[in-house]
Formats: sequence, structure tokens, C-alpha cells
Amino acid sequence: MAKCESPFGSFPTTRMRRVRRYDWARRMVAEHSLSVDDLIWPLFIHEGTNHRVPIDSMPHVDRLSIDLMLEAAKEACALGIPAIALFPATDANLKTEEGREAVNPENLICRAVRALAAAVPGIGIVCDVALDPYTTHGHDGLLRDGQILNDETLDVLCQQALVQADAGCTVIAPSDMMDGRVAAIRHALDSGGHGETLIMAYAAKYASAFYGPFRDAVGSATNLGAGDKRTYQMDGANTDEAIREVGLDIAEGADFVMVKPGMPYLDIVQRIKERFGVPTFAYQVSGEYAMLSAASERGWLNREQVMLESLLGFKRAGADGVLTYFALEAAKRLGQT
Ligand code: PBG
Repeated sequence: MAKCESPFGSFPTTRMRRVRRYDWARRMVAEHSLSVDDLIWPLFIHEGTNHRVPIDSMPHVDRLSIDLMLEAAKEACALGIPAIALFPATDANLKTEEGREAVNPENLICRAVRALAAAVPGIGIVCDVALDPYTTHGHDGLLRDGQILNDETLDVLCQQALVQADAGCTVIAPSDMMDGRVAAIRHALDSGGHGETLIMAYAAKYASAFYGPFRDAVGSATNLGAGDKRTYQMDGANTDEAIREVGLDIAEGADFVMVKPGMPYLDIVQRIKERFGVPTFAYQVSGEYAMLSAASERGWLNREQVMLESLLGFKRAGADGVLTYFALEAAKRLGQT
């Protein structure tokens, strides 16, 4: 047998499978791991009391009234989940062209944040900043003559960030993709006495069809209709552009940067982490959750195994943490070891 010269050794002296032979050895050489500290749990909230509505396209995920959300958050906290991200489903009659409800200090999200901060002190509270839950057209920014206005939107986003921070939100997460919003929000927070409030920028957020079930969950799908968000969210063809987006957000004061969606964009997570070395998060979005859940329901995939494998994939790509609808389930599983 011709001996092949390789810096990695050669067969049969070198046998990669020797190390894989035993569970103890596999555990010793594992390069990456998933822990409960890596999980952020997104929860959908709506008005009412003791009111729970399943989301058809997201099996096992329900929209919750604030009281039920608090129960869920307590359970998450007890399992060690560091942070909860709250998303409001706004009553249709509160939606307007300008999305004014976004800046109402008594809106659903602000009441939920106040309740959560009081009931589960010490848990991270992440709130989106974007107008889509509140606008009749379902867009993240102000719309005039068919165009999303950038600079006018920034003013509203700053007010929205402020009412949320006043309510007790600890992580402001701009998800709107307007230019300059991180700097504007950082300035507004600092001037408003919220110098300690963190910013998690949806820095590289792509115009993706994987958000479909989320838009059902928050009730913005019908508002957006056949519209899309391609004039502000990124084109899935681009990766250098993600580097620029992230670089700008860091320069503008982002504490955390996020890539979204997750699984189809793991290359972006890896490039960003390597390039900037900042806390980097990935959002395993609603469509990714739906896809894994639906196939598992049909018996085509093993739910628990694909959940853990997909989450570990984010860690391997370089993510410091993952926003995932599997968070509670994963935390329970990781707690069993
Ligand atoms: C709102 C927002 C979206 C998601 C998070 N924040 C939807 C969108 O941009 O249309 C998607 C999350 C998911 O699909 O799980 N700007």
C-alpha cells in the first residue's frame, strides 16, 4: 500500500475512529457545547387574563396573556434561562398608519415588561424596537407614497425604545433595519437616564420567507399582505454587506449583534464572530422552528435530536447564544444531562 504523506498522519497508524469509539472519549474531545446560558426564549403576548391561543404554524407555541407569560417566565428562570424576548400581538383596532401605539407607555408590551421585571427580577428582558406590530401596513417604519422613511422613523423608534426602557426592559433590540438607528437609540437612552440599558442589534437581518409563522403569531401577516421588506432588510445573496452592517452597529454602540434568520445564514454568524469578536447571537426564527416541528410531528425527524443538533450548530458557527422557540424544551433536556 502506497504511503500517503500527510501532516495529519496516515492510515493505518492514524485511525480517527479510535477516539469516537467510547462515549467518555467523545465527551472529552467535544469542541463545542450547548448550555442553558446560551438560550433566549421569545414569547408572544396578547391581551386578556388566563388566555392562551395556540399558533397553528408553530406547534407547542402559544400566544399568552400577561399572567400566563409570567408563569412561563418563572419556569424559564428556574431552569436558568438568562433572558426572555417579548413580542406583542396588538389588537387590530390599535393599529394605525403611523403605529402610534408603539410609543404608548401603557401599551401591552410596556405593561408586560413592568409585570415581568417585578415578578421575575434578574431575568434579562429583550424588547424589539420596530413598528410592525403597530402599523396598519405591517411595515417596520413609517410609510409615505409607498416608501419607508428612514430618518423620520428614527424619531419614533427612539421614543419606542424609551417607553420600553422606562418600563424596565433591559435589552433594547432594534429589528427595523433603518440606517443610523443604533446610534440614535443609544443617544436617546443615554439622555433619558438609561445608560445601563443594553442594545442587541438585529445587525444582519435578511428579508426572509422564514418569518412567515412569526407574522401569523403577532398578527402582522394580513397587514403586510403581498408586501415585502426588501427595501430595508438584507438581500440573502449578500455576505460582505453583513460585515458592513455589523461594523456600523458596533461603531454606533451595539453591545450585542445578531444574525437572522439562523440556520440558512450560519456562514454570516461565523464571519461576524471571526471578524469582530463581539458578543454574537443568532435567531432561529419561526420558520426554522416550524420546519423542524412539522417534520417531527410527522415522525420524519426526531424532535429532541434535531433541536439539540440545530442549536449546537449555532455554537459551532461561533454564536454566543441563540434566540429560539425551543428554549424551554432545550433547557429542560440540558438539565437532565
Ligand atoms: C419584527 C420582527 C420579525 C421577527 C422578529 N422581529 C418579523 C419581520 O421582520 O417581519 C421574526 C422572528 C421570527 O420569524 O421568529 N421586525
